[in-house]
Amino acid sequence: MAWFKVGKETSMKDGDLMKAKVGDLEILIIRIKNNFYATSCYCTHEDYDLSEGFVDDGKLICPNHFATFEPSNGSVVSPPEGSGDISPLKSYKAKVENGEILVEVA
Ligand code: FES
Repeated sequence: MAWFKVGKETSMKDGDLMKAKVGDLEILIIRIKNNFYATSCYCTHEDYDLSEGFVDDGKLICPNHFATFEPSNGSVVSPPEGSGDISPLKSYKAKVENGEILVEVA
């Protein structure tokens, strides 16, 4: 495992989402207040790009059919209405050091 710089803390405001690339991996960075979270970037329902989603009440929402995920661990809060269960997002560790957002990737 190693930590990778993916952006500046000041480039994200509360509730912002940002797509970051680490090698071939696309990771979603989520800022909620002063906490940073990282998950896989594509919805497990129909692969929608979650960097185009939004945060509501501390949860990550896919704008395509409104699947709702927990930013801190990628778990499914609620699947799209009428759909069966969907898989959780992959979750990565994220932190800020010296103003840089870092993500831990294997
Ligand atoms: S693609 Fe995300 S909820 Fe359907």
